[in-house]
Amino acid sequence: MEHRKSARETTSDTVTGDIEPFPWLPVLEMGNEEIDRDHREAVEEGNHLIRLLNARDSWAETVEMLRRSRDRSTRHFANEDKILKRAGYPGADAHRRAHRRILVELNAIIAELEIVTDPQPHHWERAHAPRNLLVDHCLHDDLKFKSHLEHVGQARRGPGRVGPNRK
Ligand SMILES: [Fe+2]
Ligand SMILES: [Fe+2]
Repeated sequence: MEHRKSARETTSDTVTGDIEPFPWLPVLEMGNEEIDRDHREAVEEGNHLIRLLNARDSWAETVEMLRRSRDRSTRHFANEDKILKRAGYPGADAHRRAHRRILVELNAIIAELEIVTDPQPHHWERAHAPRNLLVDHCLHDDLKFKSHLEHVGQARRGPGRVGPNRK
């Protein structure tokens, strides 16, 4: 135990973890202020979680962070679903279902981890799963609506307001 801890406690900010923080990239801008703000927050939160996971020294804080991330995702998904519907995104229903599936998985992972009192290496590994799910969703599913939102945004800003029909 002591050996592992001393190997990970190097300098104040840079712990010797296996996972690097995820940088915010311009390609992640979706063309909607609210969604972009939420995603930036999620990236910051994910990076905080990575620091906890790399350090492996506070399980309670890690589980609390996973709960916070689940709660934030719940709010973000509801907001994103509303925006996609309003923007007439053709994949809005499928996207809403993907959000629902992720929340079910997040809840299952948290339920599994919050009863752990003496975390073993496989528990720390498992605690990476929520972030992986969210990053995967953002890179594979969210990026699919980017061009739609950009098109709608341009149409609304343009002189003729020729956007898709709004309900
Ligand atoms: Fe999404
Ligand atoms: Fe999103």
